[in-house]
Amino acid sequence: MDRLKGKVAVITGAASGMGRATAIKFAGEGAAVVIADLNVEGGEASVRDCKENAGRAVFQKTDVSAEAEVKALVARAIKEFGRLDIIYNNAGIGGAIGPLENISVEDWDRSQAVLLRGVFLGMKHAVPEMRKVGGGSIISTASIAGIRGFNGLHAYCAAKAGVVNLTRSAAMEFAKDKIRVNCICPGGINTPILHRNIAGMKEVIEQTMAKSQPIQRTGHPDDIAGMALYLASDDSEFVTGQAMVVDGGLTIGSQYAAANGDANAVRAIMPNSFIGPSFQG
Ligand code: NAI
Repeated sequence: MDRLKGKVAVITGAASGMGRATAIKFAGEGAAVVIADLNVEGGEASVRDCKENAGRAVFQKTDVSAEAEVKALVARAIKEFGRLDIIYNNAGIGGAIGPLENISVEDWDRSQAVLLRGVFLGMKHAVPEMRKVGGGSIISTASIAGIRGFNGLHAYCAAKAGVVNLTRSAAMEFAKDKIRVNCICPGGINTPILHRNIAGMKEVIEQTMAKSQPIQRTGHPDDIAGMALYLASDDSEFVTGQAMVVDGGLTIGSQYAAANGDANAVRAIMPNSFIGPSFQG
C-alpha cells in the first residue's frame, strides 16, 4: 500500500482511461497526484476517485502540446506538494488517421504536437525539479504502434516510435542524475479513446480484442496502471531506457494457422507430430 509513500506524481491524460486508473493506483500507494488533462469534468472526477482511495490529488487543466501550460503544471506540483518525483506523460489522441496521401500538414503537425512534443515537454520541465530531490522516474505512454506498423495510423505510428526512441536517448542523458526514463507500449486496451462517441463499440471491442492475442481477454486500464506503478516505484531502480510491452502477447508472433489460438488447428493442417529435414521420409 505504500510503494510510493512521500512521492509526488504528475500524470497527464488522467481524466480518462489508463491515466485515471494510474492516478487512482498511485494515490492508493501513498503518492500525491497532480491530474492533468484538457477535460475538466473528467479531471475533477479523477481527483474525487483518488481521494476516495485515501489519496491526495489536485487537477490542473493542461494542454500537453503547449509549453507554457506544461511549465505551469510542474509549477503546480511544486506549489501544492513541494517536490516532483514522477511524471507520467500519458495524454494522447488517435490523431490523423487514414491514407497517407489524404493527411493534411496541419493534422500531421497537430498529431505530433500532442503525442510527441507533449512527451518532450513533460520531460524537459520535470527534469530540473527531479534533480533537486536527487532523482526521479519519467514514464511515457508509447504504444505497440511505436514498434510495429499499423496501416492507416501513420501519424500515430511515427509519433509513438518517436516516444520509444526519445525514451532511450533521454535515459542515457539523465542516468547520471538518477532519473530513470521508461515508456509503456500498450496493446489493445479498452478505453474511451477507442469507443468514445460510438454507441455499443465498447462491447464490440471487448469481444473482438479478446480473440486477437494469446491471452484471450481485452486489455484494461489497470493492466497499464500496474506497469506504471512498477516503473514509478523503487522496484524498478535498475531499469531505464526501456519500452515495456503490455499487450497480452499480441506482438510476440503471428497467429499463423491457429487463428483461434488453438494448437489443434496447426495439427489439422500438418498432421505429423514431428516435422524434420527434407531428406526424411
Ligand atoms: P483516453 O482517451 O481514455 O485518455 C486520453 C486522455 O488524454 C483523455 O482524457 C484526453 O482528454 C487527454 N488528452 C488528449 N489530448 C490532450 C492534450 N492535448 N492535453 C492534455 N490531455 C489531453 O485514452 P487512453 O487509451 O487511456 O490513452 C492513454 C494513452 O495510451 C494515449 O497516449 C494513447 O495514445 C495510448 N495508447 C492507447 C491504447 C489503447 O488501446 N487504448 C493503445 C496504445 C497506446
